[in-house]
Amino acid sequence: MAKQEDLFRDVVSHAKEYGFIFPSSEIYDGLSAVYDYGQNGAELKNNIKQYWWKAMVQLNENIVGIDSSILMHPTTWKASGHIDAFNDPLIDNKDSKKRFRADVLIEDFAAKLEDKAQKEIEKAAKRFGEAFDKAQFESTNQKVIDYRQRQKTILERMAKSLENNDLADVKALIEELEIADPDTGSKNWTDVRQFNLMFGTKLGASAENAMELFLRPETAQGIFVNFLNVQKTSRHRLPFGIAQIGKAFRNEIVARQFIFRMREFEQMEMQYFVPPGTELQHYEEWKQKRLNWHLALGLGAENYRFHDHEKLAHYANAAADIEFKFPFGFKELEGIHSRTDFDLGAHEKHSGRKLQFFDPERNESYVPFVVETSVGLDRLFLAIFSNALKQEKLDDGSERTVLSLPPALAPVKAAILPLVKKDGLPEFAEKIFNDLKFDFNVISEEKDSIGKRYRRQDAIGTPFCITVDHESLSDSSVTLRERDTMKQERVSASELRRIIDEKVNMRSLLEKI
Ligand code: GAP
Repeated sequence: MAKQEDLFRDVVSHAKEYGFIFPSSEIYDGLSAVYDYGQNGAELKNNIKQYWWKAMVQLNENIVGIDSSILMHPTTWKASGHIDAFNDPLIDNKDSKKRFRADVLIEDFAAKLEDKAQKEIEKAAKRFGEAFDKAQFESTNQKVIDYRQRQKTILERMAKSLENNDLADVKALIEELEIADPDTGSKNWTDVRQFNLMFGTKLGASAENAMELFLRPETAQGIFVNFLNVQKTSRHRLPFGIAQIGKAFRNEIVARQFIFRMREFEQMEMQYFVPPGTELQHYEEWKQKRLNWHLALGLGAENYRFHDHEKLAHYANAAADIEFKFPFGFKELEGIHSRTDFDLGAHEKHSGRKLQFFDPERNESYVPFVVETSVGLDRLFLAIFSNALKQEKLDDGSERTVLSLPPALAPVKAAILPLVKKDGLPEFAEKIFNDLKFDFNVISEEKDSIGKRYRRQDAIGTPFCITVDHESLSDSSVTLRERDTMKQERVSASELRRIIDEKVNMRSLLEKI
């Protein structure tokens, strides 16, 4: 555990030290759970967006992208259910004065039971070796069965209590399970209360006439209210999708773990509109497609798992998370929801407009059903960044810090490094820079020894370093060093564009999906 905490601390400090992520308005001591992306962070984030956008919009003939506004008519949030139901159940510890999400305390308790079951499985796997039959063991070992049954009972009871808004029972469950404040061990809890997560704001110049608005808590509603506009102007028939990347805002009760849970964050969402009755088939397909998209990044299949929801949101008839193994354990990275016709149906009712599709095959009009994929851009950034950060021991006994980002996502694709700041080497380096800059984000660096410059580029994840030396002037060759292998080869400067492109282009990533 201590090791995981160290790793996470390294991630946070590395992100700051190398210009990826800064606390927002830091000169005023920052703003809790709000962060700014620095020069390298903004590049990495843009590249992640591009990977998502191209995979969604460019590779799928029937998906289009939009960019809707953050401020929306307030009835949107009445219709969507956010005003009435976008709440988190919160509980305070009377001794530590800390506030927690009651459902998260219970879910964490339940997750520990699953960890115990996994330990039994691992122990048995070691004991039985090759002959181990995991499925048989899981279905017959009494300890594993008991742990899982207890977990199921707890989660089902919580889901039922939350659905019925029986907050007294949520508190009773916390007390029965003897859940303590994870930091202090205190079990002295207040009652559970509901807390709406939307940020309010006002539109208008005078206080009397101002209209109460909300900063959108999800980008999805911007897609729903534009369903007809897009369907008519794109002329797509069902099934078709609308994708969007944009900011969302939530007044999170427990905003911890760096950029994992923020109050201002970005979502990449896609709503797939389908004929009623086909939604669960599309839902299963999108679960798999989205997992494949993540796997193509090469962060390791063992770091992902599905978590099917027991407790469904007010709009869903099926829902699952893709969880990722962050430095603090498996947590939600992306949500895939079958949202039924809830949203379009509710907007029809509240707006009085028909939000339907005429299906020529069925010869009828209906409100489409929706399958949604929704991934947090910042969370994905954290997954990629923390997975990439490595301390390596080298053959000569020294150590290096390397950020092994997927090359297509790296902020800087190549650094051009003249060996010395004289004898025409900077001028030669500049020529290379001026050629490569049209295709890639490249930088030129003259300061410090070549070793130090390599280390700095390793730390920001630059896939290639190009060293210009005296030989370059006579035969136009340069030394090309690759980040992960640290192998160096002599290549002609005229070959650079092709070699770099082969390694860093987005196409190679997209082809793996
Ligand atoms: N439109 C559906 C929706 O918003 P969600 O599960 O609440 O569903 C989707 O959010 C994704 O947005 C999550 O899987 C997560 O990656 C990201 N997300 C949600 N709240 C977040 C927060 N406070 N900070 C960072 N990312 C967040």
